[in-house]
This record gives sequence, C-alpha cells and structure tokens, in this order.
Amino acid sequence: MRILIAGFGTVGQGFAEVLAARKEFLRNRYGKDVRIVCAMDSKTFAADPKGLEPLELVATKKATGKVGKETYTDSVKVMDSVEYDLLVEVSPTDIKTGGVGLKNIRNALEHGKDVITVNKGPLALNFSELIGLAKKNKCKFRFEGSVGGAMPIINLCRENLVGENIKSIRGILNGTCNYILSKMDNGQPFEQALKEAQQMGYAETDPTNDVEGYDAACKVVILANSIFGRNVTFSDVNITGIRSITAEAVALASSHNMVIRLIGEVSDTKLEVSPRLIPKGHPLGLSGTLNAAQITTDLAGPVTVTGHGAGRIETASAILSDFISIMDDRD
Ligand code: HSE
Repeated sequence: MRILIAGFGTVGQGFAEVLAARKEFLRNRYGKDVRIVCAMDSKTFAADPKGLEPLELVATKKATGKVGKETYTDSVKVMDSVEYDLLVEVSPTDIKTGGVGLKNIRNALEHGKDVITVNKGPLALNFSELIGLAKKNKCKFRFEGSVGGAMPIINLCRENLVGENIKSIRGILNGTCNYILSKMDNGQPFEQALKEAQQMGYAETDPTNDVEGYDAACKVVILANSIFGRNVTFSDVNITGIRSITAEAVALASSHNMVIRLIGEVSDTKLEVSPRLIPKGHPLGLSGTLNAAQITTDLAGPVTVTGHGAGRIETASAILSDFISIMDDRD
C-alpha cells in the first residue's frame, strides 16, 4: 500500500508517527511494509517511490517548517506525478468552499485511488458528489476521524450497529464549545475560556467556526449523510452557537441542577446544533474537551460513546482504524 499524505500539519504528522509506532503490527498483519511515497504540506513536498521514513518527515517538518525540499503551487499536479494507492487528506479544513482538500479528494477518486480524510469541509459541502465518485470509480472512501476525532461513531454505526434502526444521534461534537461552557460552569468568563481552548490547540484556525456552531454543524451533516442516508448539506442545518450564552444563564441552569451544552442532533427529520439544558450527571452533560454521542437504536437501545474529539495522535488513531479497514478490504 503506497500512501500519499496531503497536509502535514498536526494530524498529518500524527498519522506519520502512528504509522511508525504500528510498523511491526502492520507488517505482521499484512506481511508487507506500508510505504509513504509522498507527503505534502501547503507549499512543499517530499516524494520517493521506495518510501519515506515517517519519523524523518516529522523531524524535517519540525526543524525547517517544511516537509520537503520541492515546492509546488498546484497540489493536483504533485498528486498526478506520484504513483500511490491511498490518499490521506488532512489539509486544513475550509467550510466555505471545501478548499484544497476538496480538490485533492476529487482528483484521487477520479483516478481510482482510495481516500481517507478527516477534512470536514469537503464532506459537509460535497458529500453526495464525493460518495458518487467513490462508487463510480470503485474506491474506498472513509472519514471516521471527521466526526468526534478518536471517538468511534461513523464506523460504529455503519458496522457494529448495522442491523439497528438508528432513530437519532445527539452529541457533544465540538470540544472547544464544551470546554468554554464547562469553564463557565465554574464562573470563568467566555473569552478567557476560549483563549485557553485555542492555546490547547482545540479551536479551529478561525474559532468563529467553533463558537457559532459551524464546526458542529459540519459534523451533523456528515452523520446525517453517512448514517441516516440523507442528502443534506451545511446550509440545511439549524444552527445556534454559544456566543449569546451569558454567565447569568449558566448560573440559572446550575440552580436547577442543569448545565448548558452545545448539542448536535440528527435524525430522519432533524438537523440541528443548539445550546441545550442537560441534567447534571447525564452522559451529555460532561465537562472539558471530550466529545460524546448518544445513539438511540430500536434493538440495542441507547448506546453512548465518548472520546477525544481532536488531538494529534487521537485523530490519527481514527485514520489508522480506517486504514486497517481498507487493508482488510472492508467496504
Ligand atoms: N475545533 C474542533 C473542536 C476540533 O473543538 O472540537 C475537532 O474537529
């Protein structure tokens, strides 16, 4: 399996580290080595058909700010010049246009390559087009880490819970908002809590996307399309963020033994992101940066999962899980 990694920021580097950490495991499981044949950041790339050393790529990026010596202006031209089997698309997310990630995924699928991505923009804006391309060109297309990072949700619903009639999914889908709201529970001001979430590396490049609920809305769209078989896009979601949540509202909720949490909800008829009152102690009332989801099913009843919604190695763990599914030849 020859891998092209597009995007060598936090998650791209995390995936390289995870591949290095699981080298023996993957060799034992598949009887051959996995090779990174190309890694691209926003301006440079390194390529070698014999394979690049993952930890050397990370060290070079850390030392020089660049993953390779070669520069480029058009990512697609680089992709077209490399022989690879799988694109791991982890370039920065653009939820307005889909950005370079959309271009890269389209190009890979059009050329019959398998794709793993955690890039929310292309999935939230062009889901049905990309799924259609993957089907037409018989490619595997996986995106577990795009919702909830390391928290299993998409593959859990589509694989383990495949026989269930899933009625709804409600969840904490944005760690930044959850962190801010839990800090507000303790009397910390909104702006200070946001600054801390940014310092921890949880917030999006533009934190407006977190606090206005847009990031959670992208995830709601991905869940709706991939699990409920809907054909919706970002503009279909009813979105209310947490900007208008005051210290007084948080205190009033607390006096009634409640907390306020930003909840994304998806069902056959619902597509919503909004702040909700949650009883203290409820699985969706948790504090900190964790994500959580409650899946309501007809046979199994409620299934609740929680986990890290972001993070270098945590998000890379979801990519590894998708990678193993592809290597195992699961659809
Ligand atoms: N900004 C996102 C969050 C990162 O806070 O959850 C993961 O998508």
